[in-house]
Amino acid sequence: MVARRTNLYLARRRFKQQHGCQPVRNRFHNQDPLLGLDAIWRTVQRAKAGKILDWVLWRARTYGPTFASRESMEPPTWLGGRESLVTADPENIKAVLATRARDYGHSATRHVAFAPLLGAGIFVSDGARWHESRALLRPSFAREQVADLASLERHMGLFLSLIPRGAGDDTVDLQMLFFRLTMDTATEFLFGSSVESLRALKDSGGGGLLSPSASDSAFAEAMNDAQADIIFRARLGMFYHLQSNKRGKAAIKFVHEYVDRFVDEALRQDAEKGTKSNGDEKYVFSHELVKATKDRKVIRDEIVNILLAGRDTTASLLTNLFFVLAKRPDVWRKLKQEVAELDGQLPTYEALKSLKYVRWCLNESLRIHPVVPMNDKVALVDTVLPRGGGPDGQAPLFVEKGSIVTWAVYALHRREDLYGADADEFRPERWETLRPGWEYLPFNGGPRICVGQQYALTEAAYVTIRLVQEFARIESRDPGPWVEGLGLTVCSRNGTKVGLYRESS
Ligand code: HEM
Repeated sequence: MVARRTNLYLARRRFKQQHGCQPVRNRFHNQDPLLGLDAIWRTVQRAKAGKILDWVLWRARTYGPTFASRESMEPPTWLGGRESLVTADPENIKAVLATRARDYGHSATRHVAFAPLLGAGIFVSDGARWHESRALLRPSFAREQVADLASLERHMGLFLSLIPRGAGDDTVDLQMLFFRLTMDTATEFLFGSSVESLRALKDSGGGGLLSPSASDSAFAEAMNDAQADIIFRARLGMFYHLQSNKRGKAAIKFVHEYVDRFVDEALRQDAEKGTKSNGDEKYVFSHELVKATKDRKVIRDEIVNILLAGRDTTASLLTNLFFVLAKRPDVWRKLKQEVAELDGQLPTYEALKSLKYVRWCLNESLRIHPVVPMNDKVALVDTVLPRGGGPDGQAPLFVEKGSIVTWAVYALHRREDLYGADADEFRPERWETLRPGWEYLPFNGGPRICVGQQYALTEAAYVTIRLVQEFARIESRDPGPWVEGLGLTVCSRNGTKVGLYRESS
């Protein structure tokens, strides 16, 4: 034991020398210096107050772009809690996601928290299993026009019909409608048949536009409960087994059984048709997947993963964007001017690409409110980050096997040295000249970059344009600032309460 430790110590000393590593420049000192358990308490308290991201930003601005902290909820080592390195440095993030991606994997927390719902799907897997998932999914997203605009318009019609036709006197929570819309479009894309949660709301009389109490489709509810279960487990980290969430378990079972029905149907249709296809059928994701594999469990896992990946992300982007737009008549006016180029016609794929200001607004929303604001990986081997060591923080930094590297996209996107003194402001015009690389990472980077990026941006642009076409004016009915609602994604905690006017005055 002593000899093994001595050898390890000497090997690591050599490794550090070879790579020119120096001690981390800054360290955040925990109140509990051994296990860092105060981090769990602090996270719970800050989550309650909607202040986790403020804290993330404050620490990056106080301790510099890369610092060490003992705050991981991973199982401790024999020496105490695991060390985390927190970074908002593009070079370091590039190392974790691209140049040294093989040195990292998902943390034990992610496996434990996500696996009951997501099985061995793309979000939970690493190494060879991930390669298989990615290869399986990539062709299904390869078609540029993967988002179906005709289907989107049908759901959008329902969405718009739920907004009162008055003069903007009613207050509408667009957030609730966005979440239903993306659930409806995602299930149609995945299964070929939508859960129609907007229709359920309409059939219930459209009441409760300000509260999510109107009865939702059972699947959408089960998916929410299953997701809540994941978040709860992830927050408990190594203490996850102390909880028993019957509601979460039942929801996961329901989701799996529901998805299995569509998997079986896709397999049945595939067996009937064989490889024959007349080429003009509707694009259905589960049907594409069964062309690549007949393994029922693999197909189900991947579908549930895509649903989780695709639904809340796009809805959160729209929620955050419209929260800001409702408070920015100047930006709304510019959007209206640009969208007027369509002459009242429904947007086509070409139009979606050509409307630059719409794209700038989406980019800017994802910059100041990145929907996945933080992420982490665990070092699978001893490795190195290019920066963060030495007195000026410019020297390479040793990362011990088992350490967690957290990258704070929220802090990265608000770095004043990268985005200017107005980094905290929503200013779409900055995208006229901005061409960021690793400084801008709403969709992750490297080999694990989001596969649904084009799908998401197409859907978000379409919805934005349709709302701008439909309404002359939008007015915020929330006097407060944007407050974070942090789950697997981040969106406005208080919804997006607005008045929408069809006439301009
Ligand atoms: C605004 C919308 C979206 C944003 C901001 C976003 C962002 C991200 C981010 C940050 C990741 C990396 C997550 C991680 O593994 O830790 C990711 C991965 C992924 N996203 Fe998205 N996403 C969006 C929409 C979508 C949509 C609509 C789909 C599918 C329809 C999708 C499918 C995926 C998949 C499958 C992965 C896993 C990729 C892999 O590990 O190889 N995303 N996305």
